[in-house]
Amino acid sequence: MTTAIVTSVLKSKVERAPSFEDAFAAKLNGLRSEGRYRVFVELERPADRFPYAVWHAPDGPRDVVMWCSNDYLNMAHDAAVAATMIDAVKQGATGAGGTRNIGGTHHEHVELERVLAQWHGKEAALTFTSGWVANLTALSVLGSILPNAVVLSDADNHNSMIEGIRRGTAPCVVFRHNDVADLATKLAALPTAQPKIIALESLYSMDGSVAPLAAICDVAERFGAFTYLDEVHAVGLYGVRGAGQAELQCVSHRIDLIQGTLGKAVGLQGGYIAGRQAVVDGVRSLGGGFIFSTAMPPMIAAGARVSIEKLIRAKAQRNAQQQHVRLLQQGLRRLRLPMLESPSHIVPVVVGDAARCKQASDLLLQRFGIYVQPINYPTVARGTERLRFTPGPKHTPEHIHHLVDALDQVWTELDLPRQQGGWWC
Ligand SMILES: Cc1ncc(COP(=O)(O)O)c(C=O)c1O
Repeated sequence: MTTAIVTSVLKSKVERAPSFEDAFAAKLNGLRSEGRYRVFVELERPADRFPYAVWHAPDGPRDVVMWCSNDYLNMAHDAAVAATMIDAVKQGATGAGGTRNIGGTHHEHVELERVLAQWHGKEAALTFTSGWVANLTALSVLGSILPNAVVLSDADNHNSMIEGIRRGTAPCVVFRHNDVADLATKLAALPTAQPKIIALESLYSMDGSVAPLAAICDVAERFGAFTYLDEVHAVGLYGVRGAGQAELQCVSHRIDLIQGTLGKAVGLQGGYIAGRQAVVDGVRSLGGGFIFSTAMPPMIAAGARVSIEKLIRAKAQRNAQQQHVRLLQQGLRRLRLPMLESPSHIVPVVVGDAARCKQASDLLLQRFGIYVQPINYPTVARGTERLRFTPGPKHTPEHIHHLVDALDQVWTELDLPRQQGGWWC
């Protein structure tokens, strides 16, 4: 009887559900026709040659100059960091062997968290496998711990912060990017007794803008709001000890929770939060992204600790980076290339169209040996597609002049718009 039913079900005509493959193919075709399909450029980065990398081009390997690396000070190739990691591997500190709770807490994790807490002048720190996971986990826990809380989120916050806020139970109010008056208005409209979290970045990586942290802390203190600061693009690069924009703007002690990455200026991989003991312990004890995931390899924790110890003293590299940024900005202004003015190390040049942005990036790579990726929607808004340059201490004035000259030629060849008006008048 049962076999007969199964046979008749198998033989009967059923309407086909849409195919997943077809759905993906249609989406990918859409991305291709908009010029937004992501093509990875295959590179090798030999240790002693940064900013040069080897591009595995279709016609064979060739040298290119990296202009969009987030390994901002090239700590990924630092000899002491590498030696520490090699030594750690020899000592068996390769994989963590478990979540932090189940055999995965290594002495190196604890040491790194001690150094991170000290760096930011906080009571405690906690590491995660990435900055993305750190934001997702910390913001979702924070946004769920008090039943009636609300999150005030900067309009330009990173995807990982938005995802973290969404996973929490607190509703979200978005305030205009870096607009302290709008933040204050939105805070004032909320009931006094409602717990409030202000979530923002110190340095926004796609336009290079910097948050006015003292003014934001003033407003936060007036309304009794908790401050959550993503310092991912600032740690290692700003402040006398490289602890970030909060240090530079002298507000570290006024920020409740600082979040950072070990994947950019620190040169490795991983993320962290630093703050008061009870808050960090709360995220450690309640955060799924921390509890249920294998800990970062302890060799990375060892390398990150040494990298941070060196970054604390890396004033000369920070100064050289800033000088190279200013030199590049001067060159772009001179040729009216449409750069977004920024006080930071990020130099965006706007193309304003996804397909042409990709064309410019391809030309720079193929003809001039310049590697810079196009930045398209959804990373930036449609119509503001851009190339994003990150000069570092190892670029020379010759590299910068070559870049400016190449951009000038590409802008002419593709007939891209130049800056109107007068920076130079
Ligand atoms: C502002 C910001 N926060 C968090 C992250 C995620 O950090 P990670 O790359 O360590 O996952 C990024 C990544 O680019 C970022 O730009």
